[in-house]
Amino acid sequence: MSVEVGAQAWPGVIEHYARFLPVSEATPRITLLEGNTPLIPSVKVGPRLGVGVRLFFKYEGLNPTASFKDRGMTMAVSKAVEEGAECTICASTGNTSASAAAYSARAGIQSVVLIPHGYVALGKLAQALAYGARTIAVDGDFDDCLRLVRDISDSYPVVLVNSLNPYRLEGQKTAAFEVCDWLGGPPDFHALPVGNAGNITSYWMGYCEYREAGITDRRPRMLGFQAKGAAPIVLGRRVDRPETLATAIRIGNPARWKEAQAALDESDGIIRAVSDDAIIEAYQELASEEGIFVEPASAASIAGLKRLAAEGFFEGRECTVVATLTGHGLKDPDRAIEVAPEPERAPAQVDAIVEMLGL
Ligand code: F0G
Repeated sequence: MSVEVGAQAWPGVIEHYARFLPVSEATPRITLLEGNTPLIPSVKVGPRLGVGVRLFFKYEGLNPTASFKDRGMTMAVSKAVEEGAECTICASTGNTSASAAAYSARAGIQSVVLIPHGYVALGKLAQALAYGARTIAVDGDFDDCLRLVRDISDSYPVVLVNSLNPYRLEGQKTAAFEVCDWLGGPPDFHALPVGNAGNITSYWMGYCEYREAGITDRRPRMLGFQAKGAAPIVLGRRVDRPETLATAIRIGNPARWKEAQAALDESDGIIRAVSDDAIIEAYQELASEEGIFVEPASAASIAGLKRLAAEGFFEGRECTVVATLTGHGLKDPDRAIEVAPEPERAPAQVDAIVEMLGL
């Protein structure tokens, strides 16, 4: 028996937003039905930021490979296939490689991923391997990996699918469209973690294009947050040996630095650094108080919003804030277990457990 797909089913970001994307009828849709992620109202963190603050989480961990990268990857891989490519390549702190591997598998082409040896969270590594990517752990950091894949893709028949690839940004800008569509307009502020700076660039593109199309009449102020040990844009200089436990954003020389800076300037935005301790605190609050499990990098935006609130930024403001939660908590199970108490042990007896629970 065949299954009818209802006319209302979500078709993925390319099909849904085709009129805003550089695609034609001839472009294959290599899709896993990414996008359409929930915009979840905050119940605890938002109200603490300020009495007039309405905070929403754009939970990108619910994409097919559990991060926001799928929006850009459906575009990059579809265009690569349209152009006849047989192999993709990327450098990654883990999420881009998971996504590139999945979409390449879906397209029936090879993927090659270069990752910094020892600095990719377990779930992400598992994904690249499971999807069948040629996975190369490089003795170096993300910035080294990016330099290598740029060199290789310049000279050999492999398509670079990092956010240097313009189609990545095109796909990722659809998250800003969704925010506007769901809220009925843009938020006042949009907060997100910044690593290689592709995502802040993409959101800004999306907000600008919706305004140019007359769908919205204004744009949000962009709020970017980097980890203290990996904060080149905040410092205004390259960081040679970036360090943070938020390995997804452990980047010292972002590829989209200039564009991110332009987004910040044009939107009257703010970029700040947050400590690893503040990231972990926000990470635990999101899980234990909001019921939303994210990876540490994703919590940087919440740590940043808390910091702004502590400085009085939201005092007397009535505003809508959207924070993108970029990746799922299951990406990095090691960190989750490391910062949590150990599970309690009990014998297989009702009495013992009842006593432990004090019932
Ligand atoms: N959050 C997560 C979970 C990420 O994986 C990344 C980037 C970012 C935030 C930052 O986004 O780079 O667009 O500024 N991850 C890349 C990767 C670098 O290789 O997966 P960005």
